[in-house]
Amino acid sequence: MKSLIDIMELSTAEIDELIETALDIIANPEKYSEKCKGKKLASLFFEPSTRTRLSFEAAMYELGGNVIGFSEANSSSAAKGESVADTARTVSCYADIIAMRHPKEGAPYVASLKASIPVINAGDGGHNHPTQTLADLLTIRKEKGRFDNLTIGVCGDLKFGRTVHSLIGAMSRYSGVRFVLISPEELKVPEYIKTEILDPKGIEYKESASLEAVMPELDILYMTRVQRERFFNEADYIRLKDTYILTAEKLSGAKDDLCIMHPLPRVNEISVNVDDDPRACYFKQVLYGKYMRMALILKLLEEAAK
Ligand code: CP
Repeated sequence: MKSLIDIMELSTAEIDELIETALDIIANPEKYSEKCKGKKLASLFFEPSTRTRLSFEAAMYELGGNVIGFSEANSSSAAKGESVADTARTVSCYADIIAMRHPKEGAPYVASLKASIPVINAGDGGHNHPTQTLADLLTIRKEKGRFDNLTIGVCGDLKFGRTVHSLIGAMSRYSGVRFVLISPEELKVPEYIKTEILDPKGIEYKESASLEAVMPELDILYMTRVQRERFFNEADYIRLKDTYILTAEKLSGAKDDLCIMHPLPRVNEISVNVDDDPRACYFKQVLYGKYMRMALILKLLEEAAK
């Protein structure tokens, strides 16, 4: 594997290997503190980010490496019209690995075709977010102890929510997994998620407009933000943005060992009165993301050195 653009490029065995590395980093951080000495991560963020950018940067520093890059398109030559392909070729002269976020779907893939160093997709438009999924998978492993036989509710903006698309792909490879897709009509998952992932694999799923109605059956509840930046029409965003607000009261019918996840940032979709519930796992997800990104950087740099 030269780059990581889509979570489905990783086999379940490779995901297990990354999880084992992340767990070993958590247990023995000093063992890894110089693994990337002399290496540079180029952090190329053409779209806003807090968690993904800072966790990639923290990951590289904790591996003993360095970071170069930019956090907005306007401070790069993209503002003068430079293509993603030329940016990737240029940055390959300065760094050892690239983490790229871009509002255009497929931009990190184009970069990976032109770069001579590994490229990691740090989120491309409404398409994919594979390293968020790595964070999600470590969270599920730590909280539930397994990937199979889980009922996973994904709730909110299933149309534009790239984290949901990557998570459904990754979890659909485990046995006994069923999905409950909770969204308003306008924000249902794209048809390709059903025709290319769920239906061919015979994955059980159902769609619901009501979170309360399905709450008792869920092992995992994955809340998402309505993606304002992907709407063409502000009025539609305003109408839909508060469709689902998870509150402590709405959890009254939930399982005692429900795992509540959210890729963050949240706006209103999880009330702060849920944060102290032991079932709230979204800030653990943030921390696990850093360790999985450390494991991924190590794996890609090792493979590039072969
Ligand atoms: N989860 C996530 O991608 O967060 P950021 O947009 O802050 O990176």
